[in-house]
Amino acid sequence: MSEIDFSSLPKHVAIIMDGNGRWAKKRSLPRILGHKQGVRTVKEIVKASSSLGIRVLTLYAFSTENWKRPQSEIKGLFSLLLQFLKKELREIHKNNVRLRILGDISKFPDKIQKELLSACELTGNNTGLEFNIALNYGARQEILRAFEKMAQEGIKDFTEEKFSEFLYTRGQPDPDLLIRTSGEMRISNFLLWQIAYCEIYITEKFWPDFNENDLKEAIIEYQKRERRFGAL
Ligand code: FPP
Repeated sequence: MSEIDFSSLPKHVAIIMDGNGRWAKKRSLPRILGHKQGVRTVKEIVKASSSLGIRVLTLYAFSTENWKRPQSEIKGLFSLLLQFLKKELREIHKNNVRLRILGDISKFPDKIQKELLSACELTGNNTGLEFNIALNYGARQEILRAFEKMAQEGIKDFTEEKFSEFLYTRGQPDPDLLIRTSGEMRISNFLLWQIAYCEIYITEKFWPDFNENDLKEAIIEYQKRERRFGAL
């Protein structure tokens, strides 16, 4: 296997974590156990991204469409998120990881909002991996929100740079590599503005089976591609 070239790492890796439900179904387990296993993958991938020296990692954890799932599954996801924060925050902070939430969490239970905000505050000055968790996130909603904010501030300077400042990802480089697990070839309303020139990598593996080696493989594949950004 070829090696990673550390001089041309993707600055920002975004991941659509898919296949938790199918992973569980294949084992005749309840869906929530697929999500639980998915959280283990989250831990492994955050750690790996941090030690590889990736600048930004964005994980799509809850979309604006996920409210359509059964209440019991939504509750289960919230509880996994809370457990994750309780168990992992210290380690995240110790590893100099900075947490950011992409999305509107105002509809989340108060307890989770509080934990999320205090986690962002605690890690706010960290200088290592920027770990974005997309929660109640939808890219179209993000774009409309940016327009609204610009209008409120009376800004008429419609440049790409200015517009980007009003997105949840302000100040961060756009994703260079978008990974989707479980073989689906969809974008699912994820980072539509930011992925304009992104390389897409699809793996058949379900998210709970995805691991550090798979991340490295995706990066190696990314490094083989010639990125022309529209030029010749
Ligand atoms: C997609 O699988 C996965 C989700 C919608 C949720 C992802 C959430 C987690 C891994 C847990 C919480 C996250 C953090 C950051 C702690 P699916 O249910 O759509 O799978 P399926 O398509 O096979 O049904």
